[in-house]
Amino acid sequence: MIEMEKLVSLCKRRGFLFQSSEIYGGLNGFWDYGPLGVELKRNIKDAWWRDMITGHDDSTVQPGAPETYEMTGLDSTIIMHPQVWKCSGHYDLFHDYMQTCRQCKKLFRADHVGNMLAESEWVQSLTAACQGAMADDGIRVDPPSLLKWAKGKGKKAAPGLAFVRDPEAMLTWLADEVEKGPGAELGIMALLQYLATEQPAQTGLQMPCPECGGDLTEPREFNLMFETYTGAVRDETSKAFLRPETAQGIFVNFKNVLDSSRVRIPFGIAQIGKSFRNEITPRNFTFRSREFEQMEIEFFCHPDSSADWYRYWRDRRMQWYTKLGLAGERLRLREHAAEELSHYSTGTADIEYAFPFLQPGDFGELEGIAHRGDFDLRSHMEGKLDEKTRPLQVELGPDGKPKWKGSGRDLTYRDDLSGERYTPHVIEPSAGADRAALAFLCEAYTEDQVPDDKGTMQQRLVMKLHPRLAPIKAAVFPLVKKDGMPDVAKEIYRALKVHFPVFYDEKSAVGRRYRRQDEAGTPYCITVDGQTLQDRTVTFRDRDTLQQWRVKVDDCVDELRQRLQ
Ligand code: GAP
Repeated sequence: MIEMEKLVSLCKRRGFLFQSSEIYGGLNGFWDYGPLGVELKRNIKDAWWRDMITGHDDSTVQPGAPETYEMTGLDSTIIMHPQVWKCSGHYDLFHDYMQTCRQCKKLFRADHVGNMLAESEWVQSLTAACQGAMADDGIRVDPPSLLKWAKGKGKKAAPGLAFVRDPEAMLTWLADEVEKGPGAELGIMALLQYLATEQPAQTGLQMPCPECGGDLTEPREFNLMFETYTGAVRDETSKAFLRPETAQGIFVNFKNVLDSSRVRIPFGIAQIGKSFRNEITPRNFTFRSREFEQMEIEFFCHPDSSADWYRYWRDRRMQWYTKLGLAGERLRLREHAAEELSHYSTGTADIEYAFPFLQPGDFGELEGIAHRGDFDLRSHMEGKLDEKTRPLQVELGPDGKPKWKGSGRDLTYRDDLSGERYTPHVIEPSAGADRAALAFLCEAYTEDQVPDDKGTMQQRLVMKLHPRLAPIKAAVFPLVKKDGMPDVAKEIYRALKVHFPVFYDEKSAVGRRYRRQDEAGTPYCITVDGQTLQDRTVTFRDRDTLQQWRVKVDDCVDELRQRLQ
């Protein structure tokens, strides 16, 4: 397992990722992609767009699919009519629960407090002082060592903790409680609750603040949508929202796409774009950001075949990550249990990756594939009227077509062959481009040993990115800056540059130049050497196997193309 600090440091040093607004101290939850990072992320988005949309063969039944289908794209705006978010449910329901520390005033997402405590420095210090083990293992409640910690290290590490503020009083109470209750062995989380709660009779046991140990307020709702205003007047009527997902842009354009193109159900509309969520505790590098990019497909199908399409998309999306290098046990597909499903969903699966910043055995979501039934189209059809205009009236016209009163629109579909009219069901594979980039970076990070020019083994840091994702496909070097070698190297560089992102480098020793390209994830290096001047061949070097072979100068473009395929 790689250490996250090493990856973060490589990302900054080599220009994959920078903290946003770093020169002003950074802005929590926002990240910039540097020269290598922007290429990596673009390659991920291009691979997704190509594999899911432009490269999709709609004349052939794809393996695992019930029938042929079409795919098309869309690019909708970030700011949309506020009614979109009323109908989608985001206005009323898109919130997390938040707790504030009464001592240090920091905010926490209520469902993150447990994990944050497990990682918190003061909890580790307390655990070490009790000579206990973390997680669920019991900790011996040993009053003298607890007292020593509270009066020493605890004062600095957790000044807000009730037990640190008044150790003697709490110790008496704690000893009593433990005697009456669970006994002298406590799980760490239970011990923390005991140490945090000054007046348990009134408040019940509580979790302490992960930063300072202080008291946390009751969880309160917090809507995650960023608000803004359109136009010059800032009041309730001009309030708008930055989209928290790209999906709604697709639903509200469903009819436009149908009417303007020749697509027939089953078909999918895909979109890549920025989304914004005012996350309460953005953390774990780019994993939980406030501004991020999504790659979403809304796949419209007949209700009768929707279960088959759900399985198709779930498996297809899993294969996509595997083919691009996220193989092995760090990637998994997790089908949601029935009680986890939304009321309208008959199936949801997450594609998850065991990111190195998570506790061993934990996985983080890369993509969700959800069977959404007709929930979204129906919500936009019904429109969400305000309390005065409810209830919604729906009547069928003489042609059997629903006539909607209120703000909704008809988003049903009529099959021109069978004449059947229905509300399509939707399968939604929804991926995060930034999370995918982070997972590919984690997976690629490798430390190995390679021989240097003198055959001595040296530590090497190499990013084993899939060639499709690698920011630079090949680097061209003259072995030395003389004897005409730079001229030949530049000739090769110029020939390659027309077709691929390649890099020319003549500075420093060739070994160092290889190392730099290994860190950038460049799959091939091409070196012009003494032999080139005699037979016009160059050395190709493979980043992962370190194998070298000779190729004619004039064949370099073909060789690279073949290798990249
Ligand atoms: N339309 C469905 C939807 O938005 P989601 O599970 O909330 O579903 C889909 O988001 C994907 O977007 C996630 O699997 C994740 O990859 C990415 N994502 C969500 N919130 C994110 C955040 N705060 N930072 C980075 N990526 C995020």
